[in-house]
Amino acid sequence: MFDRQFHLEPFVRFEELRRHRPVFYVEALDAWLLLRHDHVKQVLQDPRTFSSDDPRWHTEEFETAPTMITSDDPTHRRLRALAQPAFTPRRIAKLATAVEELCESILDEVEARGDRFDLVEAFSGPFPAIVIAELLGVPREDYPRFRRIAAQAVLATRPEPERSVGMRAGQELNAYYGAFLRERRESGELGDDLTSDFIRAQRDGAECSDGELEAMGSLFLIAGHETTTNLINNAVRCLDDAPKLRAKVVADPDCARDLVTEVLRYRGPVLGNFRFTTRTVEIGETVLPAGSRVLPMLMAANHDPNEYEAPGEFQLERRAKGHLGFGRGIHRCLGEPLAKLEAEIAIPALYRRFPELRVDTERDILPVEVPVIHGCRELHVRV
Ligand code: HEM
Repeated sequence: MFDRQFHLEPFVRFEELRRHRPVFYVEALDAWLLLRHDHVKQVLQDPRTFSSDDPRWHTEEFETAPTMITSDDPTHRRLRALAQPAFTPRRIAKLATAVEELCESILDEVEARGDRFDLVEAFSGPFPAIVIAELLGVPREDYPRFRRIAAQAVLATRPEPERSVGMRAGQELNAYYGAFLRERRESGELGDDLTSDFIRAQRDGAECSDGELEAMGSLFLIAGHETTTNLINNAVRCLDDAPKLRAKVVADPDCARDLVTEVLRYRGPVLGNFRFTTRTVEIGETVLPAGSRVLPMLMAANHDPNEYEAPGEFQLERRAKGHLGFGRGIHRCLGEPLAKLEAEIAIPALYRRFPELRVDTERDILPVEVPVIHGCRELHVRV
């Protein structure tokens, strides 16, 4: 099921499956894939029945502290509350000028590369990675290191032996951020970054262990860029298939918001995330016993013809209501305002700089091959 062709165009396979087997067991993952919009919503809106605290994430060999994305309330609520203030739309809007400047300075470097390059290496990778580094306060020149480790950490969602490689990388990322956190705390130099916020909150009596802060920093280093990198990559792939829209984006950067919304629906970078059933539960006609693993596929839900008309068409003016690209319910993406800000700046800026940008058909697109992400490891373009 999860071969390279699937990862390049997941919705093609989802389409066939949704019609015949919308609740579909995948042995390699020991998980039930859910492909209908109503089933996916059922799961995301019922965190008591569909827990995020999968025992697979804390085996004895790879014990780590919980994070908000791998825990249920009340732990989830407590951890999310620590970071929430930094991600309000108002706080994020203040970053706009700095993010625009960073974007333009990276594009200056990209321009010097000539007329063919790997977009991931040159632009879509470094840009969100540096933004999240600055937000956390970690040195921006460390980004190639944490990008490499983060790319390995997501392998934890694959079957063995990659799972162990991913879990080990997750521990390496915790150790990297943990060392930075301790150094920062000992130096006493606190600023207006998220790490300083964590240290101050802990000092002021917030209930959180060092292990939890380490794991939180590490979660941001993964969730904070791998996703936005692929939102940019996926937007480029969508526009490559729609020359008229490409011209419109070049002519009218104000359409960026609608563009980003439709990319999130049509080619969203998060395919889905696992849940674990706490009781026997029915999904459609399938009865799942307690202790089953499910993988609600957001992208499949976003292509469900019961929810969207002509879901296979990329329509700029669709402004899809209720798309699940950022999830739903208590775990809905915390970074949504930041992700939107970055993408709405980066995509028009990229096409302003390179109006003729096209995917390089002489090179293969290398997809990220993990069951929770839709994106590219390499996306070569011509300008
Ligand atoms: C286009 C970019 C992004 C997409 C499509 C995306 C998507 C998602 C989705 C679908 C979830 C829900 C996972 C679940 O239900 O288990 C999620 C959660 C999360 N995202 Fe994002 N994300 C993006 C960018 C970001 C960024 C930039 C950050 C941080 C700076 C971030 C931080 C988080 C965090 C912390 C959670 C966990 C929230 C919780 O469990 O309460 N994300 N994201």
